[in-house]
Amino acid sequence: MVSTVTTKLLFCSVVIFFSVSVSGQSETTTKCFDDLGCFSTNHILHRLPMDPEEIGTEFHLYTRLSADDPVVINATLHESAWRTLLSASDVNSQRDTKFITHGWTDQGGKGWVIEMKDEYLKKGDYNVIVVDWRHGAAPMIDKAAANTFVVSVQLSKFMQVLQIEAGLDPAKMHLIGHSLGAHVSGNAAHKVAGTGRVTGLDPAEPYFVHLDNDMRLDKSDAVFVDIMHTDGEAFAVTKGYGMADALGDVDFYPNGGIDQPGCVDDVRAGIFGLLTGGNGLQCSHSRAHMYFIESINSHCKFRSRPCADWGTYERGDCHTCPSSGCPVMGDEADKTSARGSFYLTTTPTAPFCGQEYHVQVKLSDTPVHANGRLNITLLGENDSQEGEFSRDNEDFRANETLSHVIAVNKLHGAVHGVRLKYHSHSGDTHVFIHRVFVEDLDTETRLVFCGQDTELDSNHAVDFTSRTGC
Ligand SMILES: *[C@@H]1O[C@H](CO)[C@@H](O)[C@H](O)[C@H]1NC(C)=O
Ligand SMILES: *[C@@H]1O[C@H](CO)[C@@H](O)[C@H](O)[C@H]1NC(C)=O
Ligand SMILES: *[C@@H]1O[C@H](CO)[C@@H](O)[C@H](O)[C@H]1NC(C)=O
Ligand SMILES: *[C@@H]1O[C@H](CO)[C@@H](O)[C@H](O)[C@H]1NC(C)=O
Repeated sequence: MVSTVTTKLLFCSVVIFFSVSVSGQSETTTKCFDDLGCFSTNHILHRLPMDPEEIGTEFHLYTRLSADDPVVINATLHESAWRTLLSASDVNSQRDTKFITHGWTDQGGKGWVIEMKDEYLKKGDYNVIVVDWRHGAAPMIDKAAANTFVVSVQLSKFMQVLQIEAGLDPAKMHLIGHSLGAHVSGNAAHKVAGTGRVTGLDPAEPYFVHLDNDMRLDKSDAVFVDIMHTDGEAFAVTKGYGMADALGDVDFYPNGGIDQPGCVDDVRAGIFGLLTGGNGLQCSHSRAHMYFIESINSHCKFRSRPCADWGTYERGDCHTCPSSGCPVMGDEADKTSARGSFYLTTTPTAPFCGQEYHVQVKLSDTPVHANGRLNITLLGENDSQEGEFSRDNEDFRANETLSHVIAVNKLHGAVHGVRLKYHSHSGDTHVFIHRVFVEDLDTETRLVFCGQDTELDSNHAVDFTSRTGC
């Protein structure tokens, strides 16, 4: 009961919070800061940024020698102070440099930012620089969005000092930003000629969707720009924080890029997550940095394929890779020359990278009128992996073939059979299976398991292992 009241109170404050931030009063002025330049409101952003001292941007420099104890550089200090701190640090021009920038309501000193830093230092001898602008990311989203422009100028100046004073080559700089941090990264890279790469992890939609490309992340910002879309539906309080538009040289749409499996992006689930230390209101939005972090050292590759759209991909109609190879979502996205929009499926829980299968279930000719879902378990010699075959309730009719792409964690050996489980939603509480076709998208191995009109009752699993007679 307590939780119901708390939920309602929190719900109200969330709504008020957003309506204030969306309507906002306009401040039609310009603010100038000594060495950062001037920042103005416009017809989309009605807020001026906070002062740099209030935003308090810090650059945290990590290397393998200072893996847990970064050199902290206060961005408001004079550049000569930056130089002194840099020369005392272990930053080295031989290494590639990763810049990690968080988004709204987030911070650089804990959580996914630290996990990503740790994964990189495990992978290789990098300079890792965390951009911590937590005080500027904390206020309402319109103010935080205005603050990104100050932070991006500070970051570009820091990149230039690294280039001139420490000899770092911009081509070896890779900026990774989540949400509002994606636009900080794009706008900073844009000001430093020859920046190698920007990775936008579900770039923020509010305000930025309406801004021109020179004010937000786009593919002109670096030599290579890769984008991951995980929460692309229209912005609506608890969901849709990310932009669906293709912005990069390569745009990845895991699971279609709108919602992520394993996430329920509604207010109740979000508040529950906040109260229990879960993903809060941003489950699908947060999947972008989770997938990226997993990709850094994972043996499993998030291989993706070109396709007209998600519906076509999900039906299993896009199997082929470009001649340059299927791009791998995440840290290795720059390893192929393929360009465009790419699709893939993931599992609903970590590890998210899975083996993708195109599965077709053909119903027998016994008349049936059912609506529900199928789960499928791939059976190996000694292990098995379960996945959702139907993402939503669907109709089951005689003679029909249902077709979907699923991802499950890799089996240790070959597939020996499949287990189907039907969950009735309405209509008949059983369906009749003629055969199940399974194709491994990577190896193109195709298997058919025969059902011979096997009846599947709701919530009873049936194994199919026979390879003959259908
Ligand atoms: C950063 O430097 C500014 C200007 O010198 C100072 O006002 C501020 O307190 C410093 N911030 C931190 C966190 O040290
Ligand atoms: C299913 O297909 C068979 C063979 O083509 C046909 O005889 C039968 O009428 C079909 N059943 C339904 C319900 O459409
Ligand atoms: C279906 O499979 C998914 C993915 O493994 C699992 O989370 C879910 O609980 C399964 N549903 C049922 C009803 O077994
Ligand atoms: C399954 O287990 C058996 C007995 O331990 C073993 O010999 C076999 O290699 C295993 N198969 C796979 C695919 O791991």
